[in-house]
Amino acid sequence: MRKRGAFITLEGIEGAGKSTCMALAARLLRDAGRELVESREPGGTPLGEALRELLLGHRHDGMAVDTELLLMFAARAEHLHRKILPDLRQGRWVLCDRFTDATYAYQGGGRGVEESRIAVLEKWVQGDLKPDLTLLLDLPPEVGLERAGKRSKPDRFEKERVSFFERVRRVYLQRAADEPRRFRVIDAARPLEEVERQVAEVVQEFLAAWS
Ligand code: TMP
Repeated sequence: MRKRGAFITLEGIEGAGKSTCMALAARLLRDAGRELVESREPGGTPLGEALRELLLGHRHDGMAVDTELLLMFAARAEHLHRKILPDLRQGRWVLCDRFTDATYAYQGGGRGVEESRIAVLEKWVQGDLKPDLTLLLDLPPEVGLERAGKRSKPDRFEKERVSFFERVRRVYLQRAADEPRRFRVIDAARPLEEVERQVAEVVQEFLAAWS
């Protein structure tokens, strides 16, 4: 039987440089001969992308926190069953821009949902599946928001205050400390070449350990 592919996720607050690092990680993995699927959350499937629009757009400003949480997991269930799990089973590697750590950080830390409630949904939707590697691009929220603000009109999350992102960051760092084998924390406040060097090192180290 073909070995299942590896599941790698990227996390971080807005403006941490996720897109650049995703592109770099994808190139390194493909160069190493891995068959790779790139995806994102919320999103990754037609229904997931439709839910993303509802979640990030401003048509439903003031959406109840439980609605937001359940829509994140609805998009995730679709993504897992229609894409991530079939791909991993076929031996393909999946590189995903955000996953459940984002729910703990944003809905848990940011919005104040109890961790135990998120854990129930995580177990229901994912069973025991977790990413094999998570790169956390860490930087102070003021720096990230300043960078993100220069790009485009803020979405429903980007318009939150710095204190919201401080709580998000705290939860991400706590999770990284709790699961040091899965997480690699990248100092994303450093100049871009340095951040890319750190990402490349982590990816190469993971490739060597997996094969
Ligand atoms: P981004 O991936 O383009 O940064 O935007 C996705 C936004 O959705 C980001 O602000 C984080 C947020 N989000 C959550 O609040 N919970 C989640 O579970 C996920 C996957 C994303």
